[in-house]
Amino acid sequence: MNILVTGGAGYIGSITVRRLIEKGYNVIILDNLSRGIKFSIPENIPFINKDITEAEEVIKQYNIDAVIHFAAYAYVGESVENPELYFDNNLMKSLVLLEILRRNNINKIIFSSSCATYGDPEIVPITESEKQAPINPYGLTKLLFERALQVYKVSYGLKFISLRYFNAAGAAYDVGEHHVPETHLIPLILDVALGKKEKIKIFGNDYPTPDGTCVRDYIHVLDLADAHILALENLDTKTGFYNLGTGKGNSVKEVIEVCKEITNKDIPFEIVEKRAGDPPVLVADYKKIKEELGWKPKYDINDIIEHAWHWHKELENKHNIVAISGYFDPVHIGHIEYIQLAKKLGGKLIVILNSDKQCALKKGKVFMPQDERKKILEALKYVDEVFISIDDDATVCKSLVALKPTIFAKGGDRFSYEIPESKTCRENNIQIIDGLGAKIQSSSDLTGLKQIK
Ligand code: UFG
Repeated sequence: MNILVTGGAGYIGSITVRRLIEKGYNVIILDNLSRGIKFSIPENIPFINKDITEAEEVIKQYNIDAVIHFAAYAYVGESVENPELYFDNNLMKSLVLLEILRRNNINKIIFSSSCATYGDPEIVPITESEKQAPINPYGLTKLLFERALQVYKVSYGLKFISLRYFNAAGAAYDVGEHHVPETHLIPLILDVALGKKEKIKIFGNDYPTPDGTCVRDYIHVLDLADAHILALENLDTKTGFYNLGTGKGNSVKEVIEVCKEITNKDIPFEIVEKRAGDPPVLVADYKKIKEELGWKPKYDINDIIEHAWHWHKELENKHNIVAISGYFDPVHIGHIEYIQLAKKLGGKLIVILNSDKQCALKKGKVFMPQDERKKILEALKYVDEVFISIDDDATVCKSLVALKPTIFAKGGDRFSYEIPESKTCRENNIQIIDGLGAKIQSSSDLTGLKQIK
């Protein structure tokens, strides 16, 4: 069976891909890498770096039988700030995909939905018949696409299963939870355990819960992956919506306690303001999927944290990145998209800067207006460490040898030609990633410098 997995380079998608391969499915990944990570894709399987709206060609070429549709943006906060992104990416593009499937007579789809479609539920544990009243655009886009699935079922006989995930967490194979920027509780706590962050901020402690902090139903990503395969296997007889949670809730403080025990590290916390849009308790009633598809969770919160901790430690040891910047100015390092991409490649982003006269000169003149300073500060959020090198390629190369990163990311306008650092990387077994920020052909494109001149 040929399965098209959209968003197969993402956290849940790439783990499900591995599970599908283990079970003997032919998997084809469609991912535009706008949020996914290329390294998460297993080798030797077809990967198409395109948007879901361009699925038609892929579907024809690979003779697709069914689709698992993960591709989406998933930051609640971002969806409140920029709802248009979510309407466009999660809803409109998904509708285009749905139409492509209909045109090509593919009538099987598994959809990644969310407990965010329930908003602030009245009855907990939440059953599928709880009213769906999302309190943020992210949840709304998931709900609207669910409605579209239902319509296509009635009008066109679409066979679909929509899985409403609760809080996906944990790690499997060599993939773990890692977002840029990170906003999720468990990876943030583990960053504290690793000493990368000083403390974890708890968003409010006066919720109507036993210890005053929010309660969530954390579900292991492998349990999620298995549910997709069961859903796929049952599509001929079952269609509809299923909650995917463990039925057990843990408060933020409880999660911190489990992390303390498993990591054996002190995890300082601080109580801060509530985060807008956080319901006090989200716990699943998973009876429906248990009875109808025979799914039940295999892992609990201890397994989740243990696996996540193991992965985070590995990541810390394995994936360092160096992004080389010519000058510490918005032209190079301040290009936030590039910095974000570089950070996505691994656990730690190190930037080597050239601090030279030319840079100082430029800073004093056209390169440092106030709004560009802001961009630098924004970019620095993604950077773990900065090294200053003098302006000569030999010293940058020496820094590379000393730092021994796993990956060297060439970005901006430097990707198109052989730079001296490339030789050093080859000699020292440092992988070179080319073409980050490749949309920018020349540094002056970024600042409009040509016009200023
Ligand atoms: N939290 C903190 N401090 C932090 C981060 C989180 O106290 O630094 C708390 C949150 O307030 C929340 C809990 O930890 O109570 C979990 O927060 P996450 O951000 O890890 O996850 P959410 O519960 O916000 O998950 C929501 C929805 C999912 C949706 C997901 C999208 O429940 O359906 O956002 O990322 F998929």
